[in-house]
Amino acid sequence: MRILVTGGAGFIGSHFVKRMLRSGHDVVVLDKLTYSGNRANLPADVELQHGDIAQPDDVARAAAGCEAIVNFAAETHVDRSILSAEDFGRTEFRGTQVLLEHLRATGIRLVQVSTDEVYGDLEAGGSSTETDALHPSSPYSAAKSAGDLLVPAYARTFDVNASITRGSNTYGPNQYPEKFIPLFATNALDGEPLPLYGDGRQIRDWLFVEDHCAGIELVLHEGGPGAIYNVGGGDEHENIDVAGRIIELAGADRSLLRRVPDRPGHDRRYSLDTSKLQSLGWSPKKSFEDGLRETVEWYRDNRTWWEPIKSGEYREYYERQYAARLADSTAV
Ligand code: NAD
Ligand code: DAU
Repeated sequence: MRILVTGGAGFIGSHFVKRMLRSGHDVVVLDKLTYSGNRANLPADVELQHGDIAQPDDVARAAAGCEAIVNFAAETHVDRSILSAEDFGRTEFRGTQVLLEHLRATGIRLVQVSTDEVYGDLEAGGSSTETDALHPSSPYSAAKSAGDLLVPAYARTFDVNASITRGSNTYGPNQYPEKFIPLFATNALDGEPLPLYGDGRQIRDWLFVEDHCAGIELVLHEGGPGAIYNVGGGDEHENIDVAGRIIELAGADRSLLRRVPDRPGHDRRYSLDTSKLQSLGWSPKKSFEDGLRETVEWYRDNRTWWEPIKSGEYREYYERQYAARLADSTAV
């Protein structure tokens, strides 16, 4: 199969590209190479086209000869969507629509990679199922929801062959160090403060990147048109406990952990019911304990990957996001 992986130079997309190559598929990547897109995440011989999923010509050129598209392309960081939401709407909604229009014209298949954040938070307990209503809390999750809504609508109206996956919080090597686990791991390794939002009792359902990619691969081959599949790790932990474990694994001092003002609109808890995907034969293989240890070790051993990132644009973002918060911080 020849597969177009959009957003394939990012964190999860690049792991998916390598997985597809191992499975014997032919892969082409279309990526806008935003701040989180990185050529170094991909094997040197992978075909990478620099372009935008919201541009029909870029999509048509990259998808020529492909039987399927797997769409990872997105603006992905909740905190950035709070600072400025402009690009989120364009890529998540307009970009998804361009891909679906391409399906209408060609009849090829699409897997739309989405997120558990579209369901909103579940403080009271229980788990989100695929038929639950969408209650996004942030500009990021609202933009992802808007893209998601197009998929069953195009499947019903135009009979396009598209499925959605909704993954939980994903972690592993090559994740841009703005996200919680790689930010805390790299700051701990550098002896920098770890900014814990609010009371730190928020819960996320952690999923190792390879397990996420295995779920998406299964949906690519077995998913029904218009169907939605949750992909969750079933490994729920409070942020404060994850932070404590990262500090231990990095051999850092617990005094680095700083309580900072909370994220506006912060969701308290996510949890996914994954029985639908499990009935197709998928289950997560990596425990959070093993995955987190391997991930912190990867950041310790791969400074050449992340040290160049933590300068320039990243430094400006970091100052804007954390300088005032850290000035206001207290001990945990
Ligand atoms: P990432 O930020 O590491 O990668 C996103 C990639 O998309 C980058 O390479 C970027 O250059 C590219 N991109 C952005 N806008 C584009 C555009 N208009 N056209 C083409 N390429 C564009 O993100 P990630 O964590 O790998 O997330 C990938 C997908 O998985 C996203 O759709 C995200 O919503 C979803 N997801 C992520 C998680 C998670 O915890 N990281 C969990 C569930 C779902
Ligand atoms: O749930 C899936 C989603 O997971 C994906 O759709 C998103 O693309 C991905 O970014 C992630 O969203 P979160 O907002 O849950 O992830 P983040 O890594 O930003 O934060 C995880 C938790 O850690 C969250 O409760 C906020 C907290 N946090 C985060 C940062 C960056 C802190 O306490 N301090 C921080 O500095």
